[in-house]
Amino acid sequence: MPAGIEVAVVGSANMDLVTRVARLPKPGETILGADFRKIPGGKGANQAVAAARMGARVSFAASLGADAFSDTLAAGLKSEGVDIGLVIRDPIEPTGVAMIWVEESGQNEIVVVAGANGRAENFRVEEAVAEAKVALFQLEIPLGVVVNGLNAANGLTIFDPAPALDLPPDFPWERVGVVTPNETEAEALVGIRPLDAGSCAAAASAFRSLGVATVVITLGGRGCYWMNDRGEGLVPPCPVIPIDATAAGDAFNGALAARLAAGDELQEALRWASAAGALTASMAGAQPSIPTAAAVRGLLESG
Ligand code: RIB
Repeated sequence: MPAGIEVAVVGSANMDLVTRVARLPKPGETILGADFRKIPGGKGANQAVAAARMGARVSFAASLGADAFSDTLAAGLKSEGVDIGLVIRDPIEPTGVAMIWVEESGQNEIVVVAGANGRAENFRVEEAVAEAKVALFQLEIPLGVVVNGLNAANGLTIFDPAPALDLPPDFPWERVGVVTPNETEAEALVGIRPLDAGSCAAAASAFRSLGVATVVITLGGRGCYWMNDRGEGLVPPCPVIPIDATAAGDAFNGALAARLAAGDELQEALRWASAAGALTASMAGAQPSIPTAAAVRGLLESG
């Protein structure tokens, strides 16, 4: 990893195969889509792009296939200034893909086929994270890589437990500096659905009793809730018109990592993260919808 990396992202890269629909199909139903686009995505790659657009020096470790999709994804990351020196091209599995349906309300359904992301053991996660100020992880790659990365990181670790999975009892929660579940993920991990102030506090306390220092629960259109040893609070949502929620959580995490790496206090970093997530939800697609720092600053100053 080159010197001076502020945010090291370890995770997935997918080509998103996106269709807009009037409404999401019911089980067994065939419906007509409005259009079809191939859009760079994947939770890890989206978070790397988000941190880079916030102005951070970012590296990304991932496993791509040796195919045309991987060329497009790698070129896009490079053009954002993301260091991809530790990205590998797997000779066996194809680049990951995500089939995405987006309905007019902005809600989506996503099916991911991991492909080469499932062979991320083959990149050097320890090298990727050891010197970064902030290391950022999600769950679209094998769990062992995330565990090794958490154990090897020397700076702040941020863990976005998406998509929701059961984690083993020996998961190294004490190595997690900040965990950022949404409502579904919080419920899957600690058995409490954060619906109101009391249940947010209960869910956050449950994460803290596992050993996590700071808990941030993202609540979609209701903003986000945080708790650490300094206290707790709610960061209000930024008002935008929702078009497509894809990658809104990724923009949140990438912006949070970038602002914490830049030295912001948690609450200020969360204001930036919320605005980045909101702006992403107001545009179509994953990486094309992730805002720049200037756009986020503009939204924060207008509100
Ligand atoms: O979080 C959004 C991402 O999830 C999409 O870009 C898709 O690739 C899936 O990984």
